[in-house]
Amino acid sequence: MCGIVGYFGNKDSVPILINGLKRLEYRGYDSAGLAVMGDDQIHFLKKAGKVSVLEREVDDHVLHGSIGMAHTRWATHGEPNDINAHPHLDQEGNIALVHNGIIENYNALKQVLEKEGVTFQSETDSEVLVQLISKIYYKDGLSFPEAVQAALQEVVGAYGIVVMCKDEPDLMVAARYGSPLVLGVGEGEYFIASDASPIIEHTRSVVYLDEGEMVVLKNDGYTISQIKDKKVVYKDISIIEHDLEAIEKGNFPHFMLKEIHEQVNTITDTMRGRLQVDEGTAFLGGLSDFMPRIEHAKQYYITACGTSWHAGLIGKYLLEEFAGIPVHVEYASEFRYRRTIIDKDTVVIAISQSGETADTLAAIKKAKSQGALTLGICNVVGSSIARNTDCGVYTHAGPEIGVASTKAFTAQVTVLSMLALLLGRKKDLSKQHGIKLATAMANIGKDVETILSDTYDIETIAEEHMQVGNFLYLGRGVNFPVALEGALKLKEISYIHAEGYPAAEMKHGPIALIDDNMPVVFIAPHDKTYDKVLSNIEEVHARKGRIIILTDKKSKDLEKLSDYIIKIPQCHPRVFPILASIPLQLLAYHLAVLRGCNVDMPRNLAKSVTVE
Ligand code: AGP
Repeated sequence: MCGIVGYFGNKDSVPILINGLKRLEYRGYDSAGLAVMGDDQIHFLKKAGKVSVLEREVDDHVLHGSIGMAHTRWATHGEPNDINAHPHLDQEGNIALVHNGIIENYNALKQVLEKEGVTFQSETDSEVLVQLISKIYYKDGLSFPEAVQAALQEVVGAYGIVVMCKDEPDLMVAARYGSPLVLGVGEGEYFIASDASPIIEHTRSVVYLDEGEMVVLKNDGYTISQIKDKKVVYKDISIIEHDLEAIEKGNFPHFMLKEIHEQVNTITDTMRGRLQVDEGTAFLGGLSDFMPRIEHAKQYYITACGTSWHAGLIGKYLLEEFAGIPVHVEYASEFRYRRTIIDKDTVVIAISQSGETADTLAAIKKAKSQGALTLGICNVVGSSIARNTDCGVYTHAGPEIGVASTKAFTAQVTVLSMLALLLGRKKDLSKQHGIKLATAMANIGKDVETILSDTYDIETIAEEHMQVGNFLYLGRGVNFPVALEGALKLKEISYIHAEGYPAAEMKHGPIALIDDNMPVVFIAPHDKTYDKVLSNIEEVHARKGRIIILTDKKSKDLEKLSDYIIKIPQCHPRVFPILASIPLQLLAYHLAVLRGCNVDMPRNLAKSVTVE
């Protein structure tokens, strides 16, 4: 949700910023812009559209400077046009700012500033902040960092900002509250960015800024302090461990396809050193100190958004089945604003790929304030949710760049499966059953490889359905969330309307939609729901719906009733949801490609939703 990058050093910042924006483009791609410090003024360029549009524009202008900032926007306030693009400048053009987040009291601040004669250029909330900084700086005689700090005290909302002033050209200021910022520490140069991806090719040494912190970059070093009281904070440098390769497409046409294929290894990586096949259990180091509370909790809440919420729903089935603990799964955006009956005997599990989703972060803060133990399942190491939860488990799926979540989802379900196994064994799951499940989990990588080695059937289905306007996905039990996730993948990247339903619910409404033009994807493993799902398939067949069946074993019944069958390897029924998700990711992918959609950057979406 908006990506920001800043450079402070001796090199020309422009190519570094443009490259950085390309790495951050998954966070928003409505417009892009950059500003550099010139000899006597700030030079800037900003354009509606993707980073490539800005890059072309940059090529046509002479723009250089060793201190600069850039932004790629996901529009909140004001349509995506050139004027609303960042950076924003104060009315004299002396101060430039890029912002990720939302200034909630921007209207009130704007009215005050307008009364004082400030003329606004854009419709954005962000411009208010740069005008406010300017007013304080030029009126109150403070240093530039002090003026930024004072302005931030007046702001309500969320921000990650980078800001610079032509009157103090040898420094740059960045600050965060509610939106992530990472400082990269190189040899005589500094980088500041929304995440580490623009930094990694320059330095692996980073400092994660915490909520309410600001950093002042100067030639002789950097100082981090708290915004509220200017208290200096000394923080450790962390070393980024993943390679540049992990954030590049390699030979794949899209990040999404690369990430789908990576699942051969990522699911195994998630389990490495944790799954204990011989004992039929798992060890989750990040939870060890809190195990008594986790084990004896009276209830669990799982809170998340989007795909992570779907993983949470699968987790509910597994945790209730194996550990016998009641689990409520709730959208974080709902959880945070209603009366929740939780206390110290509740564990609240927050699931998030990015670890920065604003609603999920707010939900865990609320849960904490009510005394619950908070547990994070995050992919991004050092992310806000990872740092704001009492304990947690990293999914270790590696950087996920495609906006549509794929490998992070299967990694989340893998962590939840291990948690269910671990807790189940502490309760009444027998060692024998534990070993069965753990063995099945240990084999997932091999089965994923089998699925990915032959995708002909999936591609054929995609070719024959690229013109349809709707899809239904139906599953039962633990596979109902798989249906939801299949439908979400399809709609977000191909723009085909799709709905997921529990298969038996179909006759309570959606069955009215069935005709010979409605493809229905049934998730039909040979488990205890098989006969029931078969009846639901009959119901669609009787109404001439087009039937696509995803199963682990072909049977005469399925062959008779289906138009298409996607077969995956036979597996343990509780591992099936992970494997079944992969053909559905591929189906969405191929349909989107055939329809000419931008798979990695679907319209209106952003990878990391840091506004509520
Ligand atoms: C997934 O394909 C989506 N783009 C989206 O629903 C995502 O899962 C959601 O925004 C939550 O993100 P998080 O996991 O980073 O918190």
